[in-house]
Amino acid sequence: MEVKEISKDENNVLAQMVSMDHEQVLFCQDRATGLKAIIAVHNTVLGPALGGTRMWNYTNEIDALTDVLRLSRGMTYKNSISGLNLGGGKAVIIGDSHTQKNEALFRRFGQFVDSLSGKYITAEDVGISPQDMVWVNQETNHVAGLPGKSGDPSPVTAYGVYVGMKACAKAQFGKDSLAGLKVAVQGAGHVGQYLIKHLNEEGAEVFVTDIHEPSLKEVSEKYGASIVGLDEIYDLDVDVYAPCALGATVNDDTLSRLKCSIIAGAANNQLKDETVHGKMVMEKGIIYAPDFMLNAGGVINCFAEVDGRTAEWAMEKASQIYDTTAEIINGSRTNNIPTYAIANKMAEDRIKEAK
Ligand SMILES: NC(=O)c1ccc[n+]([C@@H]2O[C@H](COP(=O)([O-])OP(=O)(O)OC[C@H]3O[C@@H](n4cnc5c(N)ncnc54)[C@H](O)[C@@H]3O)[C@@H](O)[C@H]2O)c1
Repeated sequence: MEVKEISKDENNVLAQMVSMDHEQVLFCQDRATGLKAIIAVHNTVLGPALGGTRMWNYTNEIDALTDVLRLSRGMTYKNSISGLNLGGGKAVIIGDSHTQKNEALFRRFGQFVDSLSGKYITAEDVGISPQDMVWVNQETNHVAGLPGKSGDPSPVTAYGVYVGMKACAKAQFGKDSLAGLKVAVQGAGHVGQYLIKHLNEEGAEVFVTDIHEPSLKEVSEKYGASIVGLDEIYDLDVDVYAPCALGATVNDDTLSRLKCSIIAGAANNQLKDETVHGKMVMEKGIIYAPDFMLNAGGVINCFAEVDGRTAEWAMEKASQIYDTTAEIINGSRTNNIPTYAIANKMAEDRIKEAK
């Protein structure tokens, strides 16, 4: 059914919901605690919408709304392509995570999450700690990522990136061993460190950059990774570029410099412009492993917690990222379509079928 367009004004909430096809958006305000939050439920066809809460000092509420709508839609795709019975949702709390956190605020937020009766399950995202989720959990059971439960998702995320990188190597070089390959890792944070450990164990030669000196020192001492400059990372003569820090690092500038034949990392939204740069990587003969598929280990870990599965189950599920990556590369080569487009279609098809 064609949905009647309400308004072209991008500040109009319903128009934005229509254009991105959201089911529900809940605006939350509480004068006593100062809470200002938005919960976006994008799609619940496959199951309850799971996605983290981000606390960020947005300059205005339009930015907060745009962010939550974009992030929640991304979760629909990530959960679908990962074969999880979960829909996509996300929440944002407008505020400074360093100065404005307290128990009352998170408990009030928990009440709003609870008012959705399980349609939305929350977890940690940028600016939110497991302790904050403990407060949320005092008001609602619809929470994942609690201390003592599934724990830090980064090892599972890193494992998924690692196996997906192996599938890329198989497609590009004919064998899935990473031994002897040169890999440039951007960001030695939670995921980056675990990824570098896997790469080191397999005999890859690792180059790493980060803005945080102590993290660099740690991975250099532990795993023999060679430290390179922040900008130098794009000019290295390597086989694989693994973005594990920021988004939008695959762009006009970097694509004129990158010499790798594989891009596979954990960062979200790696392609600055999906349509433009997704096509450019393909034309340059680079295999790009779609980020939302490759970094799904974290949400797989959360799902294991809410669905009562074991840590072993989560690792086994994350290992399937190898097959999904191979399937996407195969589809891309057969049809001459960029990998991101194949991945998007796979996610959309699963939802259509379920419907
Ligand atoms: N943690 C997870 O399970 C998970 C799951 C899915 C996606 N991701 C995504 O993967 C990426 C890494 O996540 P994380 O949990 O390791 O985050 P993190 O904050 O622990 O690590 C990010 C690292 O990047 C570094 N960094 C920041 N700016 C940089 C720059 N300009 N150049 C080089 N390094 C820079 C930071 O100093 C930090 O060490 C993020 O984009 C995140 O959204 C993480």
